[in-house]
Amino acid sequence: MADASPSPPPKTMRAWQYSSTSGGLEKNLKINPSAALPKLKPNQHLVRISAMALNPVDYKPAQIPGVARLAVGLPATPGIDFCGRLITPAKDSPLKAGQMVFGCAGNNPVAGGALGEYAVAGLQAVAALPEGMEVVDAATVGVAGTTAYQSIVPRVKAGDRVFVNGGSGGVGVFSVQFAKTMGCYVVATCGTGNVEFVKGLGVDRVVDYRTENVVEVLKGLREKEGGFDHAVDNVGTNEELVLGCHEFMKKEASYVIVGGEPTLQGLKDILKRKLLPGFLGGVKGKVEGFFPAHKTEDFEKMAEWMTQGKVKAVIDSRFKYEEAVKAFEKLKTGRARGKIVVDEPNSRLLLLKQGVIMAKGDPLGCGGCDSGSEHLNKDKCREMNENMILEERAKFKEAQQSYGRQYDEPLTRLVNAVRANDEEAKAAAKKDFGELSDEMRKFVYDHNAQERLRVYILCSSRESF
Ligand SMILES: NC(=O)c1ccc[n+]([C@@H]2O[C@H](COP(=O)([O-])OP(=O)(O)OC[C@H]3O[C@@H](n4cnc5c(N)ncnc54)[C@H](OP(=O)(O)O)[C@@H]3O)[C@@H](O)[C@H]2O)c1
Repeated sequence: MADASPSPPPKTMRAWQYSSTSGGLEKNLKINPSAALPKLKPNQHLVRISAMALNPVDYKPAQIPGVARLAVGLPATPGIDFCGRLITPAKDSPLKAGQMVFGCAGNNPVAGGALGEYAVAGLQAVAALPEGMEVVDAATVGVAGTTAYQSIVPRVKAGDRVFVNGGSGGVGVFSVQFAKTMGCYVVATCGTGNVEFVKGLGVDRVVDYRTENVVEVLKGLREKEGGFDHAVDNVGTNEELVLGCHEFMKKEASYVIVGGEPTLQGLKDILKRKLLPGFLGGVKGKVEGFFPAHKTEDFEKMAEWMTQGKVKAVIDSRFKYEEAVKAFEKLKTGRARGKIVVDEPNSRLLLLKQGVIMAKGDPLGCGGCDSGSEHLNKDKCREMNENMILEERAKFKEAQQSYGRQYDEPLTRLVNAVRANDEEAKAAAKKDFGELSDEMRKFVYDHNAQERLRVYILCSSRESF
């Protein structure tokens, strides 16, 4: 996916910015159509963003009164995790201009700038996007992947028993998969609606924190199977769990707190843990805080596992660039299952509208050159996409007509049964309708039809390509 001569960056760019966080960061976000490009230092890369993913750190610290103004600098562009094209490599970097890279953006740890068209990234904060790894998947790795990786991988060995509090969120989906990839026995918590999903990530025992007492379950597991060798807490707000960790951890095993809320209560909890001795209600186990550091080799290892299929990116939802506010609203519910992705400003939807690309099996790939949104040969892509659109259009017409015809007969029977007040005939006609609907749903599913239909509608609403 290298582009030997990426276009030089423009003087200004589109970027989401906030100048205040009063009432909530997302309420103050606006697109600046002519924002200045970030200043590039010699030890930084300049990248053009293709996709980015949100993290709680994109809004939590900036919303603490005074932090945005004093520590972030306003106006600020949020966003850290990204995948994009390298425009100017950092001095002494082995990476080349035009290569696709992924990692963490920014001069500032809480406002990285990945929600702009261009962003800077530190020398160690990126790695090359390997062959076979999707742009959107790579965009989810940054902070969440690094946090999960560094809080688990160097601290465990095969056979260890690992507890993950919060196995279904942005960090959690990576935590549990990394621990499994390391060969550990993994117990993780999540809410009722995510139990099956977390099991599907390979977790050995899922604890539903909404219906089970997590501490009691963990104590029971310790009695039956032995204590835990390592734990990461991606939630950080259950004091019973933190203060009771010595009851389910092995002696000297670390309980690493990743998550937490920047509230007065959160601060009180931290002080209590740190300052009070165990007999006065302080921590009796070995509890540690955590902050990740950017390391190219960690990004490379995560990418290797992902291309090998050992770890998968989990995308909760995906938003167009123009919908970044909605993406923040979703993030702030605290209920995301995996990562929330925001597309590049030149989003595929826009390119679809322009007829430049066409969705294939992967709804994001170009049907012509299979390259995502960076086209190897625009004319050829256009021609191939045009043919695919025509084929899809024909397929849909045929399906519509066929289902239309099939619906005709039971519909007539239903109308007649209603007129004749014949309950038995009515029930039979309704049943036929139901079966037809199931078939139609199957057709839609089999042909990934929703995406195709969307493309079809978009394309058919244009006069020409
Ligand atoms: N220390 C660091 O350097 C660092 C780095 C990254 C993130 N963080 C922090 O780590 C935390 C997690 O980040 P994230 O990106 O994973 O956030 P996230 O994606 O917003 O987390 C959402 C997930 O949390 C789960 N959850 C909520 N309450 C829970 C509970 N009581 N028990 C178990 N699971 C619960 C939800 O599951 P259900 O919907 O099933 O309830 C949901 O799947 C945040 O507080 C973030 O600020 C810290």
